[in-house]
Amino acid sequence: MLSSITCTAPVNIATIKYWGKRDEKLILPLNSSLSGTLHQDDLKTTTTAVASENFTEDAIWLNGKKEDINTTRYQNVLRMIRSRATKLMDKKHFVHICSINNFPTAAGLASSASGYACLVYVLAQLYGVSGDISAIARIGSGSACRSVYGGFVKWEMGAESDGSDSIAVQVAPETHWPEMNIIVLVVNDKKKETSSTDGMQRSAATSPMMKERCATIVPQRMRDIEAAIQARDFQTFGDITMKDSDDFHEVCATTDPAIYYLNDTSRYIMNLVHKYNKMSGKIKCAYTFDAGPNACIYLPEENVVEALALFTKHFPGSDLSTYYRGSDKSNIEKIEHYQ
Ligand code: ADP
Ligand code: DP6
Ligand code: CO
Repeated sequence: MLSSITCTAPVNIATIKYWGKRDEKLILPLNSSLSGTLHQDDLKTTTTAVASENFTEDAIWLNGKKEDINTTRYQNVLRMIRSRATKLMDKKHFVHICSINNFPTAAGLASSASGYACLVYVLAQLYGVSGDISAIARIGSGSACRSVYGGFVKWEMGAESDGSDSIAVQVAPETHWPEMNIIVLVVNDKKKETSSTDGMQRSAATSPMMKERCATIVPQRMRDIEAAIQARDFQTFGDITMKDSDDFHEVCATTDPAIYYLNDTSRYIMNLVHKYNKMSGKIKCAYTFDAGPNACIYLPEENVVEALALFTKHFPGSDLSTYYRGSDKSNIEKIEHYQ
């Protein structure tokens, strides 16, 4: 018997950044975070999982290259899925997984988020796991728990030591603020030097900014940005988003040894956005940068044409590639199933 399922999952771009863990094994964060899930027209992961009695081992290919499946994260995900399985209970089944990102991997565009959300979702379908899967996605990569839902999603840090309350919760569905768009400017598609996992571990251990960030700054921003989303208040949303991005990169810079994810082009984009907003007398678009040099620009639909013209003028040719949040839905979904 052979069973095969293919699913897709979108990336999410944090406006309040998750950076630092209180539990490395269970992937429990030091602060809550909040993101917008992109639509699937542009940045997404597509993963196929096949179970067969003929396979002699579990195996995974990422972007066409065989990866070691014996990493803690893959093994934790497989173990949790199998412990909740209602299908394929026969131990003789192994699984082969093939995953492709249609955007740069490990370049600060949240590939671990769409990647693990997709992996967990496809395995949950294959093994008949029902209920909330965001906690299993979190065990793969923290940010992945937020890609399980569309629209605006928060990851509640939780207080329990077993992680039972460290889950993703949808703050608003994609229909709540359909005018919100994201332009992604790919400055550099190379794999970053310091992975998010390593970077945040070093920051948590050494950056003097971490304590206040987690104790007071982020909790206040979470409350304020949630209210801004509910009110569709782009001025507040944009202001908080840029401040949190700036603070996150300051945390990285004050890490010992310092981590620099931004480059000159990233900083040029930040200046350009500030100048454009100042000239307009209001926030027309807001940048945010994850652990990489690539810019994600949140902006209302009405400003997309003007902002794109601005970016094209400043970066003519193919210096930057752009993606937009399309008009399609932003949900994780099953696209193929054979049995
Ligand atoms: P990013 O900023 O892209 O999220 P990270 O450093 O957080 O970068 O994570 C990159 C790692 O995530 C990759 O090296 C790989 O191990 C994992 N990853 C990325 N895409 C996938 C995928 N489609 N399936 C499984 N794992 C993935
Ligand atoms: C800067 O979720 O990639 O993108 O949990 O170790 O896999 P691990 O890290 P990851 O960290 C994401 C960091 C960030 C901010 C965010 O997405 O909230
Ligand atoms: Co990541």
